[in-house]
Amino acid sequence: MHRLDTLLDHGFGLVRTFESCVQPRAFYRFAPPKNVDLHGKVAVVTGGSSGVAKEVCKELASRGATVYAGCRRRALQQLLSWAAPHGSALQQLDLGQAQGSSAAAVMGGAARLSPAGVVASASVDAPRPNPDVGAVHALHLDLADLNSVEAFAGRVQDAAGKVDLMVLCAAIAGKPYTLSPQGFELHYAVNFLGHFALTQHLLPTLLEQRARVVVVSSILHTYVDDAGPGWSYPSFESVGKRVWWADLPGLAGGWWAYCRSNLAKTWFGYELQRRHPELTVPVVHPGVIDSGLTVVPAGLQTIKSVLLARPEDGARTPLYAALAPEVKGHTFYHNTLGIIPSSSASYDITRSVPHYDAALKMMHAHKQGSSAAQEGRQYSANGSGNGNGRSSSSM
Ligand SMILES: NC(=O)c1ccc[n+]([C@@H]2O[C@H](COP(=O)([O-])OP(=O)(O)OC[C@H]3O[C@@H](n4cnc5c(N)ncnc54)[C@H](OP(=O)(O)O)[C@@H]3O)[C@@H](O)[C@H]2O)c1
Repeated sequence: MHRLDTLLDHGFGLVRTFESCVQPRAFYRFAPPKNVDLHGKVAVVTGGSSGVAKEVCKELASRGATVYAGCRRRALQQLLSWAAPHGSALQQLDLGQAQGSSAAAVMGGAARLSPAGVVASASVDAPRPNPDVGAVHALHLDLADLNSVEAFAGRVQDAAGKVDLMVLCAAIAGKPYTLSPQGFELHYAVNFLGHFALTQHLLPTLLEQRARVVVVSSILHTYVDDAGPGWSYPSFESVGKRVWWADLPGLAGGWWAYCRSNLAKTWFGYELQRRHPELTVPVVHPGVIDSGLTVVPAGLQTIKSVLLARPEDGARTPLYAALAPEVKGHTFYHNTLGIIPSSSASYDITRSVPHYDAALKMMHAHKQGSSAAQEGRQYSANGSGNGNGRSSSSM
């Protein structure tokens, strides 16, 4: 039924992906407006310790925002190296046990370790914070785990009392088939479900603040026409399609999962906007960036860094979407092509609506302690995802 649309989408997808890769930054369409002051504003950014999200955190804090950066495993080396000279009162709260020792080392002993080795609360011993620059707080967040998402949302709510802006930026790509702690395919869990749950937990304050929620997705969503928690795709073969690049080292595995998770994320952005007109929810493709997501064999690293844009450039479109007054919700912003239609499947409310409802159900099921994965399979069996790992797309 969606075959023609999907074919067209794939054609456009190829062109758009190519455009994103080869266009120099002079062709970038969007830049954050210069005159937006963020003093008194609270922002939440996921994936804040690296890549595009790190650049977003830096820019928001430079404009005076208090930024809560959800960081998974890397401690704050990179944010810290920026924050201290800029006089940002950077805090590292509640990083997990694994990060405890490195955090203390990075912070020159300023961290206080609990007997268990967990950094409970620590602030950088900066000479005197610059009042013009906002604080960056790094909180532990593992989007794969719904418990961690709930804890992160609770800490932000307790510490900040409100959220004016969210940039949903964290992602994984191309990982082998793995299940999350609650039994969801990992790309689906991290890229979509974790962000969905975070937004639901913070929804009361987001609505109250008439917040902006920037959904960072990818043009690669155009390569698939369905998504759902019941999918299992351990490899390219499992979806019955074979493309020549599936055998390249590092690329076999979960790239279809990445595409689907971005369709799920785009559905989520559009549906969140439809249900909550008080919010502004733009969806963004940031460009093809020389970041941790685009892994290439060591020998190709130099070519990659010449061809692809820097994370600072990748942050331009999400920052524009976060700050520019003219930005609209339910709109897809592409770094080089401007405002473009996303795939036909992304506008299909016969699938995005049940997908959103199913995600709500999964969250509630998780809260009540039942098997969320089972809920997901039920959703698939109901026809909005087929759960057997076979793509219905025409690829
Ligand atoms: N890079 C591209 O070419 C490209 C193209 C299109 C769209 N995008 C989109 O742009 C966004 C930013 O990507 P990027 O290029 O900045 O990627 P990146 O450099 O790999 O950064 C991804 C961030 O997500 C975090 N993360 C991964 N798994 C997580 C989890 N379970 N819980 C919490 N955080 C987690 C990572 O934390 P760790 O550092 O701890 O791993 C990292 O900080 C993503 O949404 C991506 O889909 C990127």
